[in-house]
Order: sequence, then C-alpha cells, then structure tokens
Amino acid sequence: MQELNNTLRGRDFISIHDFTIEEIDYMLETGAILKKELKSGIPHPHLAGKTLGMIFQKSSTRTRVAFEVGMYQLGGHALFLSPRDIQIGRGETIKDTAQVLSRMVNGIMIRTFAHEEVLELARWSDVPVINGLTDLLHPTQVIGDMITIREHQGGLKGIKLAFVGDGNNVAHSLLFGGAKVGMDVVIASPKGFEPDPVILEKARQDAKQTGAKLWVVEDPAEAIAGADVVYTDVWASMGEEAQADTKEKQFLKYQVNSKLMSLAHRNAIVLHCLPAKRGKEITDEVMDGPQSVVFDEAENRLHAHKAIMALVM
Ligand code: CP
Ligand code: NVA
Repeated sequence: MQELNNTLRGRDFISIHDFTIEEIDYMLETGAILKKELKSGIPHPHLAGKTLGMIFQKSSTRTRVAFEVGMYQLGGHALFLSPRDIQIGRGETIKDTAQVLSRMVNGIMIRTFAHEEVLELARWSDVPVINGLTDLLHPTQVIGDMITIREHQGGLKGIKLAFVGDGNNVAHSLLFGGAKVGMDVVIASPKGFEPDPVILEKARQDAKQTGAKLWVVEDPAEAIAGADVVYTDVWASMGEEAQADTKEKQFLKYQVNSKLMSLAHRNAIVLHCLPAKRGKEITDEVMDGPQSVVFDEAENRLHAHKAIMALVM
C-alpha cells in the first residue's frame, strides 16, 4: 500500500476552486494509485475504524454507491442518512445537525439543493464536509472525470473539452477543473442557460496559472469542432422537473448525436455524468458507440471518492 501524505487532512471538499493546482493533481494521482491497488488486490485501509455520514436530499446511484463502497474498501464504514428518516426532514437545523454528527462521525458527505447549505454545514462541522452535488457545483464528479480523461487521452493539459447543454452544476465544476489542470473548456448553451458568470470569472482567474482557455458559445457545432472530449448532461437537473418540457424544446439543437460527433477530433471520447435521458441530450448510438467511455467514467467515481476521503478524513 502506498502511504499518502497528510497535507489535506481536515480540509472540506466543497469546490475544486478551493484547492491549489498541486492539491488537485495529488487527488487525481491518488485516485489512480488506489485504482491500481484495488485492481491488483492490494488492500489500502487508509480509513480503518473511521465513519462517513452521508446526507442525501436528492436521489443518487453513482455518488451513494461510490462513497459507500469506497468507504468499505478503505477499511471504514458509511451511513446513509435519508431526509425522510433523519430530523433535518422535520426541521432540525443544519447547524445543529453538523454539531451532532461531528461528535460521532469522521466526515460528512452532503448532496442537497442550495449550495449555501453545504457552506453552513461546513461552518458548524468539526469534521471534513464533502460536497456530493448542489444546484451550483458537482466537484466529486469532475475529479472522476479528469481521472477518466487522463486515462483515455494520456493527459489533461492542452486537451479541449466541449460541454454541450445546460450551464449547470457539472458545467461549473468542469470550468473549475479545467482551470486547475490546464484543460481548455468550452460550454455551448442556449441563450439564457449559460454558466453563472461569477463562476466563469473565478475559473478564469484560476486559469491564469495554467493557461487553460475557458469560454462560452451558443453554437454546439462551434464548440465541438476539434474537441478531444465531448461532454453532455441532462437538460433539466434534479429540482427542475417542472421546467423539463419547456427546456426540452429550447435544447433540441444541443443533442449529442452522430452528426454533431463527426465534427469532434476523430479520437474524441464522450462523457456524460449520468443518469442520461437517452434520446434527449444524447442518442443511443453515441452513448453505446465506440467513443463513449461513460461507464469507465462512472467507475472512476469510486476511485475519485476514495482519493478525496483518504486525503481529507
Ligand atoms: N453522476 C452522478 O452524480 O450520479 P448519481 O446522481 O447517480 O449519484
Ligand atoms: N446536472 C445533474 C447532474 C446529476 C448527476 C443534476 O443536477 O441533476
């Protein structure tokens, strides 16, 4: 088992933006090491005897399973805390919940709606808080995505990633991720659905250190031209169910299909954080086609989450 350095111990993992280039690089490297150790049958109980509390205010398949299985593989234990069962669902405050959980667990993962709830939890928690998705960001996703891109494209620096669709939580974290690793990120969104300009500006500040180019266009074809990575996500995120039908009409041009893919670099890979709405933002042909690595990407959530937990907890 490779020893890990403890410089990140005790830190919250709320946004990729909060970490230095070297720290993000170390997370990616740690994910790759843990993956190799797992595949070679080398045990790596970095979190023996530790416990992670997981608060899910929204549904999840990948995130939940990756944290729970990951914790087990690291020698620790994870508890799934559904809002239906814990007292948050009956109005106990985030502040009180943070203080109670801090007395019993070694880390708290939360998936919720308002990003401010994660900040509030971290403010009152004595143990590291990990952001498992908010309406604003999805940082654990992008750590897994960058591990995947490195594996398939041999690196990250100078890679062009085109994100086609809603300027959402995943798009925001991709901007932050690209900025830290020197990967160019272009977001193609319909008017009115562009990424948050505040996030874009913060990411651009970060990108000054790595030279990553970050920009937003309206035309998906322009974004995809020559891209090494084509990324898409659902048009209506969790919590936007009421807007799904109207958004669908506005996003028709943004479907990742074979025609659009023919504009990308011939060695381009296709990513989707999943779950996908097949036949909407991505066709079966592309999702099941030779360029798609979406299930490698899903698997890499496990290795990414283990790296994050092993380093901060
Ligand atoms: N990509 C992702 O976070 O998937 P889940 O919603 O299933 O966790
Ligand atoms: N943007 C999507 C990502 C799901 C993993 C959502 O927030 O629902």
